[in-house]
Amino acid sequence: MVTWPATTVKIHLNLNFRGLSPSVTVAINEHSDALRRAGRRVFKLGLGQSPFPVPEPVVEALRENAHQKDYLAVKGLRALREAVAEHHQREFGIDCTWEDVLVGPGSKELMFLVQLAYYGDLVIPTPTWVSYAPQAQIIGRPVRMLATRAENGWRLTAEHLHDLCRADPSRPRILILNYPSNPTGGTYARDELAELAAVARRYRVILLSDEIYGQLHHTGEHLSVAPMYPEGTVTSGGLSKWCGAGGWRLGLFVFPKGLRWLLDAMAAVASETFTSTSAPIQYAAVRAFEGGPEIECYLDQCRRILRALGRWSAVRLRRAGVDVHEPRGAFYLFPDFTPCADKLSERGITSSPALCERLLDDTGVAILPGKDFGRPPEELVARLAYVDFDGERALAAAEGVPVGTELDEGFLRAHCPDTVEAIERMADWTAPDG
Ligand SMILES: Cc1ncc(COP(=O)(O)O)c(C=O)c1O
Repeated sequence: MVTWPATTVKIHLNLNFRGLSPSVTVAINEHSDALRRAGRRVFKLGLGQSPFPVPEPVVEALRENAHQKDYLAVKGLRALREAVAEHHQREFGIDCTWEDVLVGPGSKELMFLVQLAYYGDLVIPTPTWVSYAPQAQIIGRPVRMLATRAENGWRLTAEHLHDLCRADPSRPRILILNYPSNPTGGTYARDELAELAAVARRYRVILLSDEIYGQLHHTGEHLSVAPMYPEGTVTSGGLSKWCGAGGWRLGLFVFPKGLRWLLDAMAAVASETFTSTSAPIQYAAVRAFEGGPEIECYLDQCRRILRALGRWSAVRLRRAGVDVHEPRGAFYLFPDFTPCADKLSERGITSSPALCERLLDDTGVAILPGKDFGRPPEELVARLAYVDFDGERALAAAEGVPVGTELDEGFLRAHCPDTVEAIERMADWTAPDG
């Protein structure tokens, strides 16, 4: 094989990619796997992947549709777009029809396309999911980070958004709101969403409402902002989280009628790039969005397990002196170690990357530094995903516990043992004498 000598290789990379490395969540997963292969015990609280299996009726639908082989319409299979529209009306009160739905290979890809198609700034409250800002960087879009505060539950306030907008009122902007939140597990109350919607309407800000964890609200009471600002909200969702099907790669956006031009522009780019989303997966997804008692039951049990484990973990970490909000949805906690800063500093730990590195070395618990979620590196915050357990076994066990009974610590120790041990190791590591 002929290769170019290293000294003559010229690197011609798009300047937007300078300093860009693979997504940190993917990187921590690979690093944890490498440590495991080397014989270390590693608790994987880094990657935010659902621990639960895909519901059986949806797997069955995929089996039945394995033979589907044709390219499908670029905006998605009509039957799926109908099922998605009905689902969004039924579950979240969003007034939409099948023509307002765009299907893609993961909502992440659709987020990239919307930034590519829309000409405006991207506004992101921090802490934020890891991929929004790098996508903007790849495209060359300006990003405005709005730092939220722990005492506000890491939620964006309407005043903060107002301050940003009034400085340059006519500037085109997309604000990404993600709730229940990755990385904090928090969500917004109705009045908070209404206030944000009022500011967005006043300044014609497009809200990209990332509700991928909506169905994993721990008490099934997810509220969408879309009915409060119907003309300006694009709702994002998919199969990855509530249906445990991240690897199936199916995401969707629901648009207001007045933004059909944006949907059409994204579809034009899609037609020149990925063409259409996998056909068997789209047919199977119809079954998922149709819902029904079996899927409701599955969701109830997933929520019950996540609710119990999230609460228990928050309480255990608080007892060790860490500040952390009880989660309301999804499977994340965003612990703040600032109250332990003096003790940590005596151990040479003064930044979130150092904290996570030392925690992994000392205890085998893998979590991600707050720096990766848009926070200053010296802030001692981190994200953990409480998903290191066998979701299939836990679901089967939860079915045996009477409905209406909260799952207790005994259940968690028996059926989520690695996550429980990881949280205890973290707590003991943080407060070795406490
Ligand atoms: C907040 C948030 N939005 C979007 C996504 C992307 O999901 P997908 O591309 O699998 O639909 C994720 C995945 O981790 C996420 O956590």
